[in-house]
Amino acid sequence: MNSWLKSIGAIIVGVGAIGSYVALHRPSSPFDSAAGGERTPPDAAEYAARLGDCVACHSTPEGKPFAGGLAMGTPLGNIYSTNITFDANTGIGGYSLADFDNAVRRGVAKDGHRLYPAMPYPSYAKLSDDDVRRLYDYFKYSVPPVAQANKPSEIAAPLNQRWPLAFWNLAFVDGKPYAAKAGHDDVWNRGAYLVQGFGHCGSCHTPRGPAFQEVALSDESADYLAGAPLDNWKAASLRGEKNVGLGRWSADDVKAFLLHGRNEHGIVYGSMLDAFNNSTQYLSDADAGAVASYLKSLPATAAESSVYAYDDATAKTLQAVAPANPGAALYLKQCVYCHGADGKGAGDQLAPLAGNPTVLDNDASSVINIVLNGAGHAVENGAPDAYRMPPFRVLMSDKDIAAVATFIRSGWGNKAPATTPEQVAPLRASTNPSSDTVTILKMR
Ligand code: HEC
Ligand code: HEC
Ligand code: HEC
Repeated sequence: MNSWLKSIGAIIVGVGAIGSYVALHRPSSPFDSAAGGERTPPDAAEYAARLGDCVACHSTPEGKPFAGGLAMGTPLGNIYSTNITFDANTGIGGYSLADFDNAVRRGVAKDGHRLYPAMPYPSYAKLSDDDVRRLYDYFKYSVPPVAQANKPSEIAAPLNQRWPLAFWNLAFVDGKPYAAKAGHDDVWNRGAYLVQGFGHCGSCHTPRGPAFQEVALSDESADYLAGAPLDNWKAASLRGEKNVGLGRWSADDVKAFLLHGRNEHGIVYGSMLDAFNNSTQYLSDADAGAVASYLKSLPATAAESSVYAYDDATAKTLQAVAPANPGAALYLKQCVYCHGADGKGAGDQLAPLAGNPTVLDNDASSVINIVLNGAGHAVENGAPDAYRMPPFRVLMSDKDIAAVATFIRSGWGNKAPATTPEQVAPLRASTNPSSDTVTILKMR
């Protein structure tokens, strides 16, 4: 059993008696006594929903937008996102602005039950009152109601108890809206607000602690956005590490990655693809710039003994070493025509492997996973991209994938540890489309 569920189990046993009081206590919302207010213009309301990426979790690929039903795996069974259209019977049609606020910023549904933090309310807690109203108006006026009943969570008793989450919140959620930080300009503060609040970037990019909490929710801690394993990928560090973070990216590179899903350093894939397809590409130019300038201000967390430098020996010797080096031979056969003998790819169309933060990461899961399963389409303005990383699950054995991964992780000046078939096997199993092996908080 996973450790965060164990801790929740321990809390249930330990503090049973006082639980019901905290659990049934309805939080207060600044909207409790608020009268109607001005209706948000539809495009501003929609922009807020894009920034929060509500659609990514509250829809299924086959279903109607925001009708819920997306399975998110936990070791004890799936939980499902809910219908957040304004259908009176199956959705949130009965929610007042204050009820909606309590769900989005405090993790408490209208009937008082606590939401699992798979709903990123620890981040949305930082939203301003105005943005909560914009979101509410979007769902109320712009999203067609859909009658679709919610699926019950598959977590069995007693771990399906929700009231211990009230204690989890007390311990781990700082429930205050974002307050501008002194000593920083408006652009930086706007970026911090978007990253920490709306974008909930930390829910994927910040490491988790023993109770599954994000170890930090703001830049006060050096662990914030320091990179984390997630859904069989590694969400890279968004801090200043020169090798494995954004240290060698300019602010314009970061901006291009968010708006277009690509730059000369890399192209979106894995769970970042959902964030790009549904959310970051819709950032206004000014907001994308603000996010970039905020991220570029975060200093490196991990110490680095040397900084990546390109080495052209690999390109020159590739043909000669291939007969004796299975990794090089596989690269020549399967990869070279896209990523190049020089490992530099092609501009922002074919990702480079030389010096790529993903390839340099100690954690090889993203490299292994993308070679096994390839990447989905990045869709910008409705048009899918031209090139795509193909899957090699069928063509290559665990041993082959370990060999080619080891080759690219040590070629062209890259200095990442070797990869073993034992690292490939579990990833192959847990990403097998036909297996029911569970993944923690699988987004899709
Ligand atoms: C990372 C996934 C994720 C994202 C992003 C997300 N949600 Fe959720 N949300 C969930 C899950 C899962 C639940 C159900 C949790 C539970 O059952 O405990 C939920 C529950 C809710 C509920 C409670 C509804 C009910 O019927 O009880 C509301 C309201 C809600 N979300 C609104 C939003 C809004 C608005 C956004 C965007 C600003 C959003 N969510 C973004 C995963 C997500
Ligand atoms: C659902 C999980 C998820 C969310 C939410 C998410 N990311 Fe990511 N992100 C990833 C993963 C996984 C990767 C690694 C794959 C890749 O490079 O595309 C990644 C990669 C990146 C990269 C490239 C890093 C590199 O070194 O290649 C940037 C920049 C980035 N994310 C920024 C953001 C920002 C800013 C946000 C919030 C607005 C965000 N991400 C939200 C999962 C996520
Ligand atoms: C048909 C062209 C093509 C082939 C062949 C190909 N790749 Fe890729 N690869 C891509 C593209 C394009 C991307 C960027 C992700 C995307 O958009 O699909 C990528 C991404 C990657 C990444 C992640 C880079 C990043 O940005 O973080 C790795 C690692 C990788 N490829 C390794 C390999 C290996 C190893 C092989 C051979 C076994 C291979 N690729 C074969 C096109 C290709």
